[in-house]
Amino acid sequence: MPPQQWSHTLSSYLPWTTSPLLISDPMGGFAWAPLATAVSLAGGLGLLGSLADMSQLSSQLTEARSTFAAEFQPAVLWLFAAPQLDDYGAWVAALREASPASSVWIQVGTVEAALHVARTARPDAMCLQGADAGGHGFERGAGVVSLVPEAADALARAGHGDVPLLASGGVVDGRGVAAALALGAAGVVMGTRFLASREVAIHPIAQAAVLEARDGGQATRRSKLFDQLRGPNVWPEAYDGRSLVVQSYQDHVDGVGLEEIQRLHSEAVLQDHKGYATGGKGRAAIWAGTGVGIVREVEGAGDIVEKVRREAREIMDGLGKL
Ligand SMILES: Cc1cc2nc3c(=O)[nH]c(=O)nc-3n(C[C@H](O)[C@H](O)[C@H](O)COP(=O)(O)O)c2cc1C
Repeated sequence: MPPQQWSHTLSSYLPWTTSPLLISDPMGGFAWAPLATAVSLAGGLGLLGSLADMSQLSSQLTEARSTFAAEFQPAVLWLFAAPQLDDYGAWVAALREASPASSVWIQVGTVEAALHVARTARPDAMCLQGADAGGHGFERGAGVVSLVPEAADALARAGHGDVPLLASGGVVDGRGVAAALALGAAGVVMGTRFLASREVAIHPIAQAAVLEARDGGQATRRSKLFDQLRGPNVWPEAYDGRSLVVQSYQDHVDGVGLEEIQRLHSEAVLQDHKGYATGGKGRAAIWAGTGVGIVREVEGAGDIVEKVRREAREIMDGLGKL
């Protein structure tokens, strides 16, 4: 099924959205109602992140509903990082029963996972997360440039070509969006770009570090170390996370033991700065994708959506004239 038809499918249950479909991802602890509603009001899809404390999520859903979505059911439920790929089948079934009007989307990071999840969980859409993504993701994966077309081909061959595909990882502007659409995605999911929004819940020093970072492949690193800073790593084996390079990581490279790194981290996070610093000097992880080098200023989330959409359209129009 061509992406144009996927777009038709998605806009049938996201009627307020404008093409190309831009989505702010559910960054746990960062993407609350103000960000999600600003993105949705600008014709994108704003997702709320959740942490382990579900009462916080329910109050944010209430706030989002009163600001924006009175006439809409929760449109999309997003799943990611199940301990086992087989877990998604039962999760999707339970969610469909609990919230029949919602669509269930799953983010995966490899072709194999996409095939497995399409076959066993039958989600309404899948987000293909490339290795450039900020935050957690598959430790071993490809960038969207090869991941999206290979997964699309494999899914079509396996008879799952009707599942709409979205792309995430490293996209922060209209150039990235136009490229992702050219690769076959029906929409683009962005996290890092929204870390530089006015509505995101981020510590000001962490936001300053995001704005300062340049040369994203150098300024960020994927590592399991970031998940060990607070204690034992609770993430599934296949996952690691991409953060700005911070002092904790530098110490790890320099051979400092984990216990000492954890001790320094636990002291730092008690301070007002919460362990964040610019110049790579902080102790706490600052999750960000390689696109961070392109992000230069803090803007309103709605303005970001409109600007990125406009840029993408201009690029696609320009390419059409070639
Ligand atoms: C600060 C931050 C927090 C994130 N938290 C989550 C999360 O809680 N759940 C989730 O599914 N993905 C999370 N992600 C990953 C995103 O789903 C997405 O794959 C990623 O942001 C896309 O790459 P980009 O950051 O380069 O745009 C997070 C990403 C960032 C940057």
